Amino acid sequence: MERIICLAAGYLFGLLQTGYIYGRLNKIDIRNYGSGNSGTTNALRVLGKKAGAVVFFGDFLKAFIPCILVRILFRDRPEIACLLVLYTGLGVILGHNYPFYLNFKGGKGIAATAGLIVALDLRLMVVTLLAFVLIVAVTRFVSLGSLVVATIFLVWMIVMGNNGSFSVQSGYLPEFYIVAAVISAQAFWRHRANIVRLVHGNENKISFGKK
Ligand code: G3P
Repeated sequence: MERIICLAAGYLFGLLQTGYIYGRLNKIDIRNYGSGNSGTTNALRVLGKKAGAVVFFGDFLKAFIPCILVRILFRDRPEIACLLVLYTGLGVILGHNYPFYLNFKGGKGIAATAGLIVALDLRLMVVTLLAFVLIVAVTRFVSLGSLVVATIFLVWMIVMGNNGSFSVQSGYLPEFYIVAAVISAQAFWRHRANIVRLVHGNENKISFGKK
């Protein structure tokens, strides 16, 4: 029951579509421009740096806040706390990616994944942030940076879950791995068009030079 509540509460937080709202305030539906994504990268692409920053922090916080709350609320049950944080983060990502009131057409869940990561493990934050910044600085493909973050996230969960760093008890481990894998797979699924473009060499590069 706790799992369902965390997933559902996360989904409700995820419905707060910062990019869509920011676009509407600028009299556009951001999903009709650029990549059609309602997240940070497309906000940056279509509306400029300030929009990108606002959308990132909005989408980041809507994941970080419920995830850290769950972690605090369940601090006396460390054997399951991290699993419930994962369910909450997955809920936020699903709400962000598939908002029911926008015909299930939202973003790709990477800023929300960042919020989940910060609530889970600051070491993982440092590793993923460094990898993301390096990849985007060198290639200017945000999608590639996002996919590397999703991959590192899954590997980290498997390694750290297994050595007890998150206090995940062995009975919960298979489920812990499955939820982490779903989060990572979700990022790959939402980036499937980006992956095709990356393979064909025509993925959009991000520019930080304008607005
Ligand atoms: O977080 C989304 C990013 O990885 C790709 O965004 O708009 O280029 O598809 P976009």
